[in-house]
Amino acid sequence: MSEVTLRTAGITGLGMSFPERRLTNADLEVMVETNDEWIVERTGIKERRIAEKGVPASHHGAEAALAAIADAGLTPDDIDMIIVPTVTPDMMFPSTACIIQEKIGAKNAWGFDISAACSGFVFALEVARTHVMSGQANRVLVIGTEIMNSIVDYTDRNTCILFGDGAGAVVVEAVDPADGGIIDSICRIDGIGGKHLHQKAGGSLHPASEDTIRQGMHYIYQEGRDVYKYAVRGMANVALEVVEKNGFDKSDVSLMVPHQANIRIIEAAQSRLGLADEQVVITIDRFGNTTSASIPSALQVARDEGRLKKGDLIVLVSFGAGFTWGANLLRWCRD
Ligand code: UT7
Repeated sequence: MSEVTLRTAGITGLGMSFPERRLTNADLEVMVETNDEWIVERTGIKERRIAEKGVPASHHGAEAALAAIADAGLTPDDIDMIIVPTVTPDMMFPSTACIIQEKIGAKNAWGFDISAACSGFVFALEVARTHVMSGQANRVLVIGTEIMNSIVDYTDRNTCILFGDGAGAVVVEAVDPADGGIIDSICRIDGIGGKHLHQKAGGSLHPASEDTIRQGMHYIYQEGRDVYKYAVRGMANVALEVVEKNGFDKSDVSLMVPHQANIRIIEAAQSRLGLADEQVVITIDRFGNTTSASIPSALQVARDEGRLKKGDLIVLVSFGAGFTWGANLLRWCRD
């Protein structure tokens, strides 16, 4: 049997793309019975970006992808794999990966979408990492992109205040282990979560019909309080677990980049890792919950703010529908 030498994979490029249009808490106050104070206190959200009608997930996904490719010093021809985590694909099929592949002209790439809701980016990064480690792929694009407004009921105050549109992308390639790279990931699912958070219709169980439309079954349904309980525990536990599993102490962590669902869920994970405020990246105030786009775009925000330094130990952590949850541990490998 021939020996397999595993390479080290690292994030070498970042990109993001958001619609211009802002939906503020004041805007929502005239749409549903809510108020700025409640939204800020319970969620940490002040505004979110909303795409114009007819703009699909592939639009901002392609923009973020091109930015990440340029940031890595590459061209679309260099990409050999595209993974798109999303819950708002352009359509059921073909995959949004195929649509973006054509839009950006990545003619040497294969790829597919991943359905893991808010944990989509963490899961996709792990798939990218293992493909690069094994040599099965050399340069992988991971693109979290969402048009959440396409599945939000703007008459339901429980959910319409939470979500925003946008995209974040990273390039993953083989790096010199001395520079850092992705160390490990933990990915988990538990189907018990399905009843608490889902979009019921549009698949094979409940194909679109007059009835599914009348009953609002194409919108996000969430039992917020139940999801909250699982999310607080799941995110904090897995963040600490990925650190300790790899022989580190929580005091070794420089930065946590969490999924942005609720400021209070993030604070629970922050407290479990014993991190100061400046060690946690928060974007929920300006973007809301952008599902699979939240972590890659937060990485770019962190870098723009000068908070990503070569050698930093970073935890990416998420919790979402499924339930799905997980964490990636990495050393930032770029200057
Ligand atoms: O990203 C994917 C995973 N999803 C999550 O992680 C979300 C987890 N859940 C949450 O973040 C929170 O549960 C929410 C932000 C969704 C809700 O916050 P909460 O503190 O759990 O509020 P609640 O659902 O327990 O509602 C408390 C009260 C209720 O009134 P009563 O029954 O106490 O009279 C709601 O009707 O707040 C009311 N309420 C609102 N009031 C003003 C619910 N939504 C609103 C609103 N404005 N938008």
